[in-house]
Amino acid sequence: MTEAKYDYGMIGLGTMGRNLVLNITDHGYSVAGFDKDSSQVELLKKDSGDRSIYASSVLEEFVGALKAPRVVMLLVPAGKIVDEVIQELKPLLSGDDLLMDCGNSHFTDTNTRMEELAKSGIHFMGVGISGGESGARYGPSIMPGGPKDIYKHVAPMLEAISAKFAGAQDIVPEPCVTWLGPGSAGHYVKMVHNGIEYGIMQLISEVYHLLKVAGKMNNDELHEVFSEWNKGMLLSFLIEITADIFAQKDALTDNSLVDMILDSAHQKGTGGWTSEDAMKLQVPLPVIDIAVSMRDLSAYKKEREAAAQKLEGPGYRFEGDKNALVTWLEQALYFSMITTYAQGMSLLHFASKEYKYELKLEDIASIWRGGCIIRSSILDDIKSAFSRQPDSATMLMDEKLSLKLMQAQIATRKIIQIAVDTGIPASAMMGSLAYYDSYRSAWLPANLIQAQRDYFGAHTYERNDREGTFHTKWNQENK
Ligand code: 6PG
Repeated sequence: MTEAKYDYGMIGLGTMGRNLVLNITDHGYSVAGFDKDSSQVELLKKDSGDRSIYASSVLEEFVGALKAPRVVMLLVPAGKIVDEVIQELKPLLSGDDLLMDCGNSHFTDTNTRMEELAKSGIHFMGVGISGGESGARYGPSIMPGGPKDIYKHVAPMLEAISAKFAGAQDIVPEPCVTWLGPGSAGHYVKMVHNGIEYGIMQLISEVYHLLKVAGKMNNDELHEVFSEWNKGMLLSFLIEITADIFAQKDALTDNSLVDMILDSAHQKGTGGWTSEDAMKLQVPLPVIDIAVSMRDLSAYKKEREAAAQKLEGPGYRFEGDKNALVTWLEQALYFSMITTYAQGMSLLHFASKEYKYELKLEDIASIWRGGCIIRSSILDDIKSAFSRQPDSATMLMDEKLSLKLMQAQIATRKIIQIAVDTGIPASAMMGSLAYYDSYRSAWLPANLIQAQRDYFGAHTYERNDREGTFHTKWNQENK
């Protein structure tokens, strides 16, 4: 039996798990790793060098190598595999041991697992980790939730391995991790992070469509445009990687790689989960809903090819100034990204009340500024907005962000006009503008919806001049 001397355990030694192990050991901790797949175990051993790493594909040996009380991190695919691992592991653990699920688990599963394990005195935390492969290796954004007193024991390690970020107002770089709330708060926040990720990715792909088709830009020009944008108000990880993507040549042909990739996107589902829960809580999230739907529609490749032969568009081509198109698109994307973050933050505000997470939206904006997929300079403004108004249900009303939105809406309207005229779908951007226009409408036509519901279903309606609920026998005189 190996001596029980390792500080942390990692179950799941795929790319993310392996990179996290290396990151943790970079900071002076020792780690034991476990994977059923012995080739993953060998890979970690090969990468270990002279670090304090132990790797095994025998669960008992792995558990035996850990210092008590044990801290075991799980990085396995979300869903039933997490439950299977917990079932195998549970008999080997003791009260006071801590299990941290660092995958993209659904927050309701996290609640169930937490309750189950508590019966055996085992602590459980749901920890969202964002930043992909390189984030895991060199500094991710970490979103932990669960018992606060237990978090304290792992906080120094999580702070050490997380990304560090220094914003305009920060004197020293801050770690991109903080305790977010009890129960499944961490996994909930990670889910919303991913919903926003879906929204921004869809918006960027719409902008690409407009630049490529309306602006007739080639990949070199697209690379230039996105690289320039990444120096300005759109500075963000997703804009940065988009610029890189347009510069990537294909290894198998002479073309740009992006042109050789099938236009049909996959998804593991976290964007859809965000929409589902927002629907349940009745929080409007049109950009994220649309992003999920557009990924679904992208997969209808054969149907789209058939429809392209039959269903005609407007046949109008954009002949305007290409530079103006680029300038308007930069502002339209900025506008739409702000409204997408606003929708996600609004969901967090209401979910926090419903699930008693007591989330601090300023902290969330702060830890999203470095390491994660949705990091962007906009988050500095969002952090400031929630420091001014911590309990605000919307950041659209913030003094600074509202000014920025009002300025950028003009260009957004121009871009949407071009999209409509040319028949280029820009649904997420349209959703952003419609959300803004609806939110700022003191009057919306929902009185008609109330009337229709009462007409066909006697669902009653409220009036704008007196309290109470009313029902009318509609259209009696024509009967
Ligand atoms: C992150 C990512 C990460 C992963 C998504 C992809 O924050 O690092 O969000 O979690 O890339 O799971 O999600 P889809 O497969 O749903 O696009």
